[in-house]
This record gives sequence, structure tokens and C-alpha cells, in this order.
Amino acid sequence: MKETLEQIKASALAALDATKDLAELDTWRVKYLGKKGELTALLKQMGGLSAEERPIMGQLANEVREALTEGLEARKEAIEAEALNARLAEEVLDVTIPGSPLTLGHQHPMYLVLDEIKDIFVGMGFECLDGPEVELAEYNFDRLNAEEGHPSRDWSDTFYFDTDSRVMLRSQTSPMQIRAMETRQLPIRIISPGRVYRKDEVDATHSPMFHQVEGLVVDKGITMADLKGTLNTVVETLYGKGTKTRFRPHHFPFTEPSCEMDVQCHKCGGVGCPTCKFEGWIELLGAGMVHPKVLEGCGIDTEVYSGWAFGMGLERTAMRRFKIADLRLIFENDVRFLTQF
Ligand code: DAH
Repeated sequence: MKETLEQIKASALAALDATKDLAELDTWRVKYLGKKGELTALLKQMGGLSAEERPIMGQLANEVREALTEGLEARKEAIEAEALNARLAEEVLDVTIPGSPLTLGHQHPMYLVLDEIKDIFVGMGFECLDGPEVELAEYNFDRLNAEEGHPSRDWSDTFYFDTDSRVMLRSQTSPMQIRAMETRQLPIRIISPGRVYRKDEVDATHSPMFHQVEGLVVDKGITMADLKGTLNTVVETLYGKGTKTRFRPHHFPFTEPSCEMDVQCHKCGGVGCPTCKFEGWIELLGAGMVHPKVLEGCGIDTEVYSGWAFGMGLERTAMRRFKIADLRLIFENDVRFLTQF
């Protein structure tokens, strides 16, 4: 029996060393120390021993049990310590490792220009309005005095949603003039930037979607001099003091008189170069005095009030401002391009 006890002890301790985790350790405990374990089974046989042998074997059995219990505790601590070390190693935080760089976005050149334009107008007391891109032809054309049959209303130019040409993607920001006059108290001073849509093929200067900024002033005693004064101030702020402008007669259905405003070429100073297509001037925007029919259509008394309006292309303004040669670069949003501004 003594040998059996020694054997149990030896094999138990060997098996104990081989346990790898707490689950295995528990299996080990049941096998060697449990109620149905090997040691208990042996102790049950003690009844068959002689009176002299019994206390000796009893003591020995207790020693073995103690040794196994101690071993169990020690192994448990060791396993727990190993698990903790493994976790610590896994979760180690090395505060000396340089952080992974955050790639920040970059403001788009066109929005840089738009922000400047907004700043200029807001500084002069204008309000900045947002408007719908899905617009009624009534607002985009009719109420802007573009009668049926006007070339811009053609299906080949305009994205209509319905067969009777009532709902469309706006082709200009000018309908915001009507929306402003419908919703604002007089006097009105607004700009309204946003997307507009026309059926144009994509090339270096065209896109079926582009951006405009509309401007509208309606007040008592407004004249063409106010228009010129305001727009000259805007141009000098955008392009530098002393930048020359010129106003050429033009036609728009919703203004009378109408004009286009050119800026003297910043590249050649008006002599003529490739940038200005050898004209010395670059077209910047359309403008004019708001047509009385348009004002009256919004219930404004033209005996008392008058107004001026303008519409400018935003991509073109940004392209000129940053000397960007191809419109497509504006829309492709390649970060290598964007981060240059
Ligand atoms: N809406 C015109 C266009 O898209 C631009 C324009 C011209 C707007 C004259 C105006 C204006 O407000 O007065 O070509």
C-alpha cells in the first residue's frame, strides 16, 4: 500500500506539472483528490490493514494528500500568474511608439472662394440663402420672364422630371430671386449659392452640374450705380485693389437693362494673353436691373422699389482665382490636387 501511495503521489505530481490551465487543473483535482479520486479510493481500503500498520499508513496518506493539496495551490498560482503575464504582454501599451498620422481633409478650392464671396456680402449686410435644386419651371423660367419657347427651356438643355415640363433640375440660381421676394420683407439683400444643372457634355470648361451664386438687392431708389459700386467692391476684394472691371450690354429675360461684367486679365493686365484668350478681359458674371415684370410678379410696387441682380459661375471664379486650367479637376477631388490650395 505504501508503494501504491508513493506511486499515486509521483504520478499525480507529474500530471500536475503538465496541467496548462485552470480547467485542466480542476480535472486533475477531481482525479486525484476528489471523493471518487484515486487517493480516496485507497484510503477506503485502510480498513483491511493491521492495527499497527493503520496509523502509519494513515499518516503517510495524509502527507500525500497534503503534498498534493499544496502542489495544487502552487500550480494554481503559477497558472494564474502565467495567464496574467500573457495578458499583460498582449495588452502592453508602448507610449513611446509614434502615433499613426491622421490624414486630415482639405478645404476645396471652390469652397474657399465661396467662403470669401460669402464673407464679402455678409459684411455688406446680405443674407445667404439656400434653395431647392429640384425646382418648378414656373420659378426657373415663367416668373423670371422667360416665356414659352425661350431657347433655355428646351428639352435638349434642361433636365425635366415630367413630360409636361413643370418640374426640373434648376438650370440657374435665379429662381432664388423669386423665392427671396416671396418670403422676405423689403428691403431685400441676399445671395444664394448652389448647384445648377444643364445638359452639357463634360469637357475642360463644361459640366452638366456646376455652381452659381445669385445676388439680389431690392430697395427704394436702387440704381445701376449701386450694382456697379457693389460688384466693383467684390472684385477688388477677391482679386486685389485696383482690379479693373467693365460692363458690357447683354440680354437676360429677367433684367432690364442687362449686362455682363468682365474683369481685366490679371495675367497680362489687359494686353492680351492665352489666359484671357487675347481679349485682355475675362467674363465674370451676368447682372442687371431687375425687370419690372419680375418685381411686379412678386407683388412689389415698381413705382417705389427697384433692384439689381447678378449671377456668377463659382467654378469659373475659382479656376481664375487659383489658375486652374481644367474644370474636371474641380470635381475629381484628387487630394493631390486639393491640398495645393
Ligand atoms: N442666371 C443667369 C445665367 O445662368 C445669370 C444671371 C444673369 C443672373 C443676370 C442674374 C442676372 O441674376 O441679373 O446665365
